[in-house]
Amino acid sequence: MSDSKENVNDGKPTELTFAIGENINGFKLVKKIDEGGFGQVFKVTNDDKTFYAMKLESNFQEGGSAIKLEINVLNQLPKDTVFPKFICGGKKIRFHYLVLELLGDNLKTLKARSVNPEVWSDGTWSRIGIQCLYAMKKMHEAGFVHRDLKPNNFAIGLNTANEIRSRRVLLFDFGLARKFIQRKSGSAISKRTEKQKFKLKTTQSRPTTGPSRQLKKKQTLSISNMKFKQNITHQVLTGPRGIPDVSQRTAEERPDEELFEFRKPRPHTDFRGTHQYASPNAHLLKELGRHDDIWSLMYMIAEFFVELPWSNNEDIPVEDLKNQASLLRIFSDEKNPGRLTSEMRRQLNEIDRMLKSLNYYEYPNYELVYQFLKDSMIKSKVDWDTPFDWELTGSSEKARSNGNRQAKQDTWKNPKNFFKVSRWEKLPMPTISPPASTKVLHALPNNVSRYKKADFEKDFEKRGKQMSKEDSADGEEVNPVVKAPTPAQKSLRNLPDATESKKG
Ligand SMILES: Nc1ncnc2c1ncn2[C@@H]1O[C@H](COP(=O)(O)OP(=O)(O)OP(=O)(O)O)[C@@H](O)[C@H]1O
Ligand SMILES: [Mg+2]
Repeated sequence: MSDSKENVNDGKPTELTFAIGENINGFKLVKKIDEGGFGQVFKVTNDDKTFYAMKLESNFQEGGSAIKLEINVLNQLPKDTVFPKFICGGKKIRFHYLVLELLGDNLKTLKARSVNPEVWSDGTWSRIGIQCLYAMKKMHEAGFVHRDLKPNNFAIGLNTANEIRSRRVLLFDFGLARKFIQRKSGSAISKRTEKQKFKLKTTQSRPTTGPSRQLKKKQTLSISNMKFKQNITHQVLTGPRGIPDVSQRTAEERPDEELFEFRKPRPHTDFRGTHQYASPNAHLLKELGRHDDIWSLMYMIAEFFVELPWSNNEDIPVEDLKNQASLLRIFSDEKNPGRLTSEMRRQLNEIDRMLKSLNYYEYPNYELVYQFLKDSMIKSKVDWDTPFDWELTGSSEKARSNGNRQAKQDTWKNPKNFFKVSRWEKLPMPTISPPASTKVLHALPNNVSRYKKADFEKDFEKRGKQMSKEDSADGEEVNPVVKAPTPAQKSLRNLPDATESKKG
């Protein structure tokens, strides 16, 4: 049994402390990787040879644990190299845990330990941007928007004995993800088939070197206690398409447009995401779509290029700065104006126009973003083997000294049509545009948007990760321990930095 300790405040446990060497469900805690107000991430092992990452979140924090939701999302994402492998997860009396493939440093850390920690060279941000765009679109193809894209939610992999993974970027932290499509009523697959496939999936997900029989039993129990209603969706999502004889099709063989429909956007929502990277729509409390993820991605890439205008501006509300600044303006480097070609400047303006004009249902032009990044890669004369900025410091494993290890044929290096087509393009779009939430904003007190980050941090040290039926990844109640938001949480919708505030 775990000997983790609770800190108690007013009789209520507030946070859990875990000791290095402690055993949680057969996994020994080796080292703390990260800690925030909401959870802790540890390097763990079950055999002293194979290492994983374990994320732990207290069940007693406001809004409950987001891990249950995260496991639900991980089970619906394709088993792809751009998402960490899901090993197991479950619920204990005091906390939820999630065991994942162990990754390397996140992009924020990599930038900080690069030759120039202020900005990345064009050859680095362009190639990293392409990989991030690829991972994000993979998630969209599975029917999810991430809603919290930022440098610390992408990380490079770790090399294995026969595979180079340290030059590959993976996307994680699905605690705020939301589905934008749903299965049409009447298109459900029989419960028996669903159960069978789910069983298969959890079996595959277990570590090959499992700690004990008892542990495996417990894992199966804790996982099956969660509602994996949508688990089967993944199987269908990757199912065959375009089968000619419609009458002979099984549910799995029907094309996506017959099986799925857009999930309706809500008139307004609570703020979701991280202040620094949230799209202007997130500040307007609109339901976020695929284009909002692209928007966050563009802010993130711009920050690799040059400092964001709102990074050190405490006086003007960040949403005002975002509204004033076009992407071209954000991507301007006064010291070195020649970094972008005129074609790239044109592309940025077009991306800007696209992001401002799209609604929740519309398919964003990923290819346009890809071309912008690819053009920068060409201009800086790098290829995929050129060292990244953090590989030039001497402390990293060098790209070219990887012995017999093979780099997989990564699709983003030659994406062909990947960024041009969408599997959801045939889904009928409602004719009425989704409702905006401007009314809500107008109803807010004037001073709310003037709230400074420092005040916010004093007021609200925790992220509003509370999930309701409406906000969950698949539309069903995923977390029975959800509590009503506190007044401070309610105010989160208007306040900056919902996530960053928990860290220094
Ligand atoms: N599988 C992993 N392998 C290695 N490190 C990881 C892994 N998962 C998470 N981390 C590290 O822990 C940090 C926090 O993890 P994660 O983003 O999942 O949690 P979080 O509490 O939701 O964080 P935040 O709210 O700050 O985004 C990551 O930025 C990363 O540095
Ligand atoms: Mg994170």
